[in-house]
Amino acid sequence: MKFSKCGPLRGEVTIPGDKSISHRSVMLGSIARGTTEIHNFLQGADCLSTISCFRKMGIEIENNGNTVLVHGRGLRGLSKPDTALDCGNSGTTTRLISGILSAQDFTVTLTGDASIQKRPMKRILDPLSQMGAQIRSLQDNGCAPLTITGSLLHGIHYLSPVASAQVKSAILLAGLYADGETQVTEPYVSRNHTELMLSLFGADVHMRDTTAKIQPAKELYGQKIRIPGDISSAAFFLAAGLLVPGSEILIRNVGINPTRDGILRVCQKMGADLTLLNENHDTGEPVADLLVKNSRLHGITIGGAIIPTLIDELPIIAAMACFAEGETIIRDAAELKVKESNRIDVMVRSLSAMGADVEETADGMIIRGSSPLHGAIIDSRLDHRIAMTFAIVSCLAEGETEILGAECVNISYPEFYQDLERLKS
Ligand code: S3P
Repeated sequence: MKFSKCGPLRGEVTIPGDKSISHRSVMLGSIARGTTEIHNFLQGADCLSTISCFRKMGIEIENNGNTVLVHGRGLRGLSKPDTALDCGNSGTTTRLISGILSAQDFTVTLTGDASIQKRPMKRILDPLSQMGAQIRSLQDNGCAPLTITGSLLHGIHYLSPVASAQVKSAILLAGLYADGETQVTEPYVSRNHTELMLSLFGADVHMRDTTAKIQPAKELYGQKIRIPGDISSAAFFLAAGLLVPGSEILIRNVGINPTRDGILRVCQKMGADLTLLNENHDTGEPVADLLVKNSRLHGITIGGAIIPTLIDELPIIAAMACFAEGETIIRDAAELKVKESNRIDVMVRSLSAMGADVEETADGMIIRGSSPLHGAIIDSRLDHRIAMTFAIVSCLAEGETEILGAECVNISYPEFYQDLERLKS
């Protein structure tokens, strides 16, 4: 797809449902008793992979577009699928479902696309094995395909070497089925959507500092869930509104859970004109509208505990730093190397190709802002967040930018290009 420099972006955009929360709503709905009614479910390919996995295990799921009904069959209601479960491009599906499957009374194989087969799964194989699960990487390379034979699980206290909500969630979901209390302590707090939703469904979960704790459950109960807009998708319009001269955008219905809102804090620290409006908790998660206006930004240092709260936004933050005055340092972000692509490598190469002054470091990058950027051919490496990042950068770069594999945005934001075009006109 080809993009050119554009004039101000103006108007309103309503962001589609949060990807992390959409996955969790189908998973918990499937293992709860009764029907779970989900509103504003994200119809992205990743979340559809989760639906398809649970359908294969006998769960009836009605997908009516914006509303999804999951007819849960209880904690022990899943049945053995006829074929391998295909998690597509979704790390969240693969890792979270592994926690549930570790306790079922059947054997199942989990697989996914080329990217998923390269992503590290040892981080869940280790703790789930410690709990007693029979789970292994078929090719013994610590990646999917995985074979899981459900077992009787034991509660553990796991000290996770990484701050990862996917690891934490896999363990907590397995903990529902364990013979005692399960705890996970992380180096920094990662997103807590699993804990919040487990609690809503009736599980006994507690969070304190960087530790989450769960008791074994007898049953979970279906709920009505309204999913807030995904702050990770809103991030692209936030950046566009701040960077493109003359822009003013109202981004409606954005989830601002404090374990996800690092990008707001970063924007404010960089000098952004950003206002939160209509803050409410109506969805069970904090939500607000974001009013953003073109601003002069300056470079900052980003590292430590804030990193997990903006991990998926670091590509667009790195892009924003190219237009800020002075230096931006991103550190403690080595996790970026094991996302849908190696996001440090792809960001440094692609921004450099457009004329930016960016340097790769062991755990992040250093960006010296304010060099004018020009169009280039950008390989998205089929990473949705890279494609969206460069669609925004192209609004500011001289000449034409071509994004290869641009259609991969269907993973998390199928209507992204239409929403962007609407704001341009
Ligand atoms: C997610 C957690 C994060 C994030 C991913 C979604 C989740 O991954 O990058 O896009 O839904 O739990 P990690 O847990 O690997 O940090």
